[in-house]
Amino acid sequence: MQVLAVGGATLDIINSVPVYPNEDDELRATSHQECRGGNATNTLVVLSQLGHQCSWAGVLGDDKSSRLILRDLQQQGVDTQWARIQPEGFTPTSYILSSLATGSRTIVHYRDLPEYGIEAFEQIDLANYAWIHFEGREAAVYEPMLRHARLAAPSATISLEIEKPRTDIERLIPLADVVIIAKAYASSHGYENALDLFEAIGTSPGSVMLFATWGEDGAWLQTVDGNTLHMPAYQPGRVVDTLGAGDVFNAGVIDGLQAGLEPAEVLGRAVRLAGEKCGRRGLDIA
Ligand code: ADP
Ligand code: FRU
Repeated sequence: MQVLAVGGATLDIINSVPVYPNEDDELRATSHQECRGGNATNTLVVLSQLGHQCSWAGVLGDDKSSRLILRDLQQQGVDTQWARIQPEGFTPTSYILSSLATGSRTIVHYRDLPEYGIEAFEQIDLANYAWIHFEGREAAVYEPMLRHARLAAPSATISLEIEKPRTDIERLIPLADVVIIAKAYASSHGYENALDLFEAIGTSPGSVMLFATWGEDGAWLQTVDGNTLHMPAYQPGRVVDTLGAGDVFNAGVIDGLQAGLEPAEVLGRAVRLAGEKCGRRGLDIA
């Protein structure tokens, strides 16, 4: 399947530490790695491994990091023809502490680039894509892109990830077919569980399929008929690295739905892929 994803690519600077430090501590990293990251491109890299033809639309700076990112995407078989380079821009960079004790990842993110906007998006021949995935970012910029995607590629499935709270991001939800919401968004709005989240979102029947990822508590699904389902997390032997687990989950959802699996199977497959990922470093699937 031809998949287009719109969203972020980052330089990830990852220091692994034995345990998460206290404020004002000084400690030595046990390993250091600089690699490509970013939700949309992480999802594409996994989809590419699952056999899909993937394209990325996003913005990079004009620097060494952007060259590393483009090289990595090309090596992973992800088409970068729609990427925009912002002259004199600084590529989004994440400073990440990965705790060996728990597998948790703590991210400090720096970004100073404009979003990929409707002008660039309108240049893409969307009719080539069977699936268009959006990493939900600035609602005012993304709303025209989602609307345009629906008109220009009426037979494509549109998915949307909502990871963090952002002004008015909720208005993007009815514009997608599949929406994947992370616990970070839900918690910041005071929802203690996925069912409260689904109820608050209140999509009309027959419209949107909702997923909610809940870290080590697994994930939930609400079908377009309003039925809900929970899948506990898949436990790898040991949790070593949760960085990108949500992005792998998204790839599992897209892959499972396009294969025509039943909703429960899609949920199970996405939870399994994400859980297996937590048991190893990086995004290479077994
Ligand atoms: P992210 O923080 O990367 O957005 P989440 O924490 O929401 O991702 O996790 C996405 C999915 O990954 C969860 O729904 C779950 O299935 C799986 N997952 C996350 N953390 C763990 C863990 N510690 N053990 C097993 N599976 C996990
Ligand atoms: C993981 C990730 C990292 C990136 C950060 C951006 O989900 O995509 O690769 O640094 O999140 O928010």
